[in-house]
Amino acid sequence: MAAPRPAARGLTAHIAQRFALDNSRTMPGMTEEKLQRCYPHGDLENVFPDVFFLRGSIQMGRGVSVGRAMTIVRQEGDLTLFNAVRLNEPRLAKLDALGKVRHILRTGHHHGSDDAFYADRYGCEIWALPGTKLDRGATISHELSTTGALPLNDAKLFVFEAAMTAGLPEAAVLLPGERLLITTDALQNWEHVENCSFLASILVKVVFMGQAKPGPFWVKAVKKRGGTTLVDDYRRLLELDFDNLLSGHGQPLLGGAREKARASIERTFRA
Ligand SMILES: [Fe+2]
Repeated sequence: MAAPRPAARGLTAHIAQRFALDNSRTMPGMTEEKLQRCYPHGDLENVFPDVFFLRGSIQMGRGVSVGRAMTIVRQEGDLTLFNAVRLNEPRLAKLDALGKVRHILRTGHHHGSDDAFYADRYGCEIWALPGTKLDRGATISHELSTTGALPLNDAKLFVFEAAMTAGLPEAAVLLPGERLLITTDALQNWEHVENCSFLASILVKVVFMGQAKPGPFWVKAVKKRGGTTLVDDYRRLLELDFDNLLSGHGQPLLGGAREKARASIERTFRA
């Protein structure tokens, strides 16, 4: 990712102007056009003293945008990003004020499209399960395993083994101090429609809405690809001691998250 990018400044400026981005800072290693554009997003929310949440969005197709969310954990001044969402310059300044972006911890197979942006801008390391899809030239710095190291002290990695079988690596991370579970698609928390286009909002209302709910499309994809033991993974997940949930989709669920997950999982696999 260190190749120089001489003639791209004109295009970079055009993209920034076209999408009303404040990209006054140029990328040190990559051309802007190789990175995913910056989509509309909200502000950083302080959920716990050292945990922050940001509600963003991503365009899935022409006229179809869906809400997604990033979680940021700070330890000793270092920041670890989950479900990375590219921010505009004013919000990047706020992120910089929180600490130094050191790590991306990938818990989901499908939420890596902005990893390259952060790796390029900050030189941060990417921690991911073997087989995780990486986009736009990003590479894995550390392969995750339940017995291996993590960039966060005291954190615990949970792996959905059925998702590994299915070739859609998915994990969750428990922060015991906050009794917080961080997920991507395996548990989502759509309590209301947010940052979605009209068509996506209908889909979310009909299919995705629910607290601590297994992502319907993700569950279907894992099972279709041979991850038939997924329900066993969710049973193991419910053995973790968590009370709060921050997902890659939806809103923060603070309090009662495990019991809500238990109910949602029962409904999902009973159907
Ligand atoms: Fe997702």
